Amino acid sequence: MTINLADDPRISDEQYLTLKSKALESRNLSYSPYSKFRVGCTILTETDEYIVGANIENASYGAAICAERTAIVKAATSGFMKFKALAVSTDLETCASPCGICRQVIREFSNDKQLPVYMFNKDGSKVIKMTIDELLPLSFGPEDLGMVTN
Ligand code: THU
Repeated sequence: MTINLADDPRISDEQYLTLKSKALESRNLSYSPYSKFRVGCTILTETDEYIVGANIENASYGAAICAERTAIVKAATSGFMKFKALAVSTDLETCASPCGICRQVIREFSNDKQLPVYMFNKDGSKVIKMTIDELLPLSFGPEDLGMVTN
């Protein structure tokens, strides 16, 4: 049953629409001259800030940083360690999902593992929502090392 646009009671319709437009816009920040595959990411923090990021590539191809990790590192180094939602977009017709490394990094900041991840296609006409627990089941996280994260 869909409860609101975000399908999450913690995210208002207005916040969801802002998150969506920022996720689509953040592709413009992409530096991807090698793959020409733009990815944008926007995080809605626990305290309702929006942090944007994009993939940043390198002439040494393996040094590329995904959009999700760019946004997460920006958020964490700005003092935002708790997230309410994360949204990604690409220029594909279909929705693309975060890579394996990014799933693990997203999971670090998902206390209850129910963090919603929204995946938008190129014009936002399609979206897939999955929680990080669905994207990375049986994940290994801070709690497994005895950390109390909330
Ligand atoms: N990319 C991301 O930004 N996020 C992902 O989850 C998957 C891949 C980027 C990395 C590289 O710049 C380009 O997409 C092609 O792999």
